[in-house]
Parts: sequence; C-alpha cells; structure tokens
Amino acid sequence: MSIRVLKDKRVLLGVTGGVAAYKAAILASRLTQVGVAVDVVLTEAATRFVAPLTFQAVTQRPVYTDLFELEVDPGSGELSIPHIALAKAADLLLIAPATGNTLAKLAHGIADNLLTNIALATPAPLLIAPAMESDMWAHPATQTNVATLTERGVTVVGPTAGHLASGAEGVGRMSEPAEILEMARVVLGQAGDLEQRRVVVSAGGTREAIDPVRFISNRSSGKMGYALALAARDRGAQVTLVTAPTSLSDPVGLKTVQVESAAQMRDAILAASSDADALVMAAAVSDYRPIEPAHQKIKKGEEGLTLQLSRTPDILAEMARLRELGRGPKIVVGFAAETQDLLVNARDKLQRKRLDLIAANDVSAADAGFSVDTNRVTLLSADGTVDALPLMSKEEVADEIWDRVCRLWETG
Ligand code: C5P
Repeated sequence: MSIRVLKDKRVLLGVTGGVAAYKAAILASRLTQVGVAVDVVLTEAATRFVAPLTFQAVTQRPVYTDLFELEVDPGSGELSIPHIALAKAADLLLIAPATGNTLAKLAHGIADNLLTNIALATPAPLLIAPAMESDMWAHPATQTNVATLTERGVTVVGPTAGHLASGAEGVGRMSEPAEILEMARVVLGQAGDLEQRRVVVSAGGTREAIDPVRFISNRSSGKMGYALALAARDRGAQVTLVTAPTSLSDPVGLKTVQVESAAQMRDAILAASSDADALVMAAAVSDYRPIEPAHQKIKKGEEGLTLQLSRTPDILAEMARLRELGRGPKIVVGFAAETQDLLVNARDKLQRKRLDLIAANDVSAADAGFSVDTNRVTLLSADGTVDALPLMSKEEVADEIWDRVCRLWETG
C-alpha cells in the first residue's frame, strides 16, 4: 500500500523501558513495510524488555542505544555524533512506549541518554504514546508533564483503558500500533498542501428503511470515501467525514458523522459544508426510498409485496446550487458509478449537477469499484479536461483527486 505522506520519510522511533516495548517492534515493522526509513533508539531499560537485534531485523537498519558512541560515515569516513545526525535527519520523533520517567525528562528538558538528547536537538515534531500503570499515569506529576508537553505542541496518543501488566484493569495501556501509525500520518502531514483547508467527504451506501428491520441499500463499501478523507487528513486538512454504515473503523484525526439514510446524509452535509473549501461526494446515495416505512416489521403474508418508492434529495446538486448562491462549498466533486456508457453518463452528471470535477468509474470491472482496494477512474473537469487514470490503489486515486482540487483552488 502506498501512502504518500509516509513515502521517503524518516521516522525516529524512541523506545523506552516498559512492557509495551514489545509492541514497538510491531510498530517498527509496520512503518518499514509502508516504505518509511525507521531509525530506532532504545533506552537502556528498553533493551531489558526487547533486544536491539529485534528492531535491527525488522527495520534492516542500525539501532542506537549509546550516547557516547561516535559513528563513521561510510562515504566520507568522517566521524559524526549520532544524536545530532539522527535528530537532524528525522521527519518525526515518535516515542512509543513513553514511560512516566521519560515524559518527566521531556517536560523538563533533561537530556541524560541518547533519546532525550535527540528530543532536545531535533526540529522534528514529537509524537508520544505513553504507557504505564494507571496510578503512575493519574499522578499529578505525570498529568502536569503531559499538559506541559501538549502545550508545547507535542501530540499525545493514548494511553487507553484495559488490561495492564500488573493484572489490574485501568488507563495506562499503550495505544495499538495501528492507531499510533495513524497518528504518525496525521502529525507528518500537518504542514501539508491542504493545511488550513476545511473539507467534507461523504462515504458508504445509504440505507432507506422499509420497516424497523429491513432496508434498501447498495454494494458500496465506503473504501473510496474513507481513502479520500484519510488522504486529505494526511495533507493537513480539517476533515469532516459523513458516512453511511460501513465495516470500516472510525478514522483517527478527523471528525466522523455517522448517518443512515439519504435524508440524514443531506442534513449532515448541509450542516458541515456551508463554509467548506471542498465537498467530495463519494457516497452511494440511494436514489429512492420507501415512501412510508412500516412502524412494525412487515409480516410474511401475500405472495407479493409492492413497495412505493419516492426520490431522495440530490445532495450534490443541492450543494452545487447553494455554492452558486455563495453559501455552499467552494469546490464540488462527484462520483459517477456506472455499468454502461461511462463517460457519456459522467459528463452528463458533471454538467447537470454543475460540478467542478467528477470521478467516473466502471463498477462492473472486477478490479475497480465496489469493495475492492483498487480503482480505475477517469476524471472529467468542468473545463472539459478528461484524464483517464490507470489502475491504482484507492489511496492513490484519492491523492490524484486532491491534487486536482488544489489546482482548482489555485485557479479559482
Ligand atoms: O446521479 P448519480 O446518483 O449517479 O450521481 C452520483 C453522484 O451524486 C455521487 O457523487 C453521489 O454521491 C451523488 N448523489 C447525491 N445525492 C443523491 C444521489 C447521488 O449527492 N441523491
């Protein structure tokens, strides 16, 4: 999976001495797998929990533990001081797990080991994932230290509640590697090209109630919409994701609004997009809904059952009209999922709904459209440009769409 914000980045992963250090090896491995160069620095206490060799093996890079060891640059033969060289090269300093002791040192600028020296020397943003017993976490000293760090612009993820190493239950568990990875994307993307932009993305297939237990819906998985929301977040935007039910987990670092029906989606989008810089409607909104949903479960009776359906509101067309009145989102992007006459239908929608851009995809192809992780879309712009993109991951399609939205902002 290629995620643009992580590509060619250098993350300095600091591991301190807590039981959760074993999860840091999973984190190092995940980061490496998505193309990040991970330099690991272990405190001495951390080496008691996990051997440096483990991190060396998963990152395929040297691991650092000693403040006083000088390094020889293989190219120039010159000596370099690891804490200065590492601190300068990092795009992000991620400390996971961060013990109460390391939090205290960071808050007070104490530099008594390689990691805390790097923390003082680096211009990179700092992300920390605390992990400790709940009493240590709740201690006023720790809470004050965390508040000091947060005020200084440090991002703190977790700790979460659950089973602790002592056998007790409480707040103090390190956040799961997947969540820390998400936060790393958020922090790395903070100064991205969508910084200061407010965007709204819709996702999933709406559900129109027939009775309290049945509904009409469609095959949308929500993957394209979620990829769009995450890509915008990774580029520094403030994102509101309005989503119909999906099996995807709630993303970190953005505002998610859960809805069911087209009418609910309309209200949520209207509320979120009046001053938005862009609206991207990736949701598959039901075009029809049962006129009068039954209050009780419909019983099996007659041979046949006829449902009376009526049209749902066309959210996108309404937002584009509002935009013309100066009240809607600045840029409006739609999707056209088709099984035939793809480009003709997409162009018609682009013009009829008065959109800036439409992403047309043939959902009858096995490798594009619903449920799969890849998509093949053609982007049609209001100025007549037609851009047929090759098969790519939904993450990559999302970045292509945001690239074009950025251009529209510039020329707009
Ligand atoms: O006309 P069609 O439904 O195929 O148009 C697709 C585009 O319009 C998608 O971006 C979809 O999210 C949006 N749409 C909408 N409200 C509807 C139906 C579709 O915003 N009721």
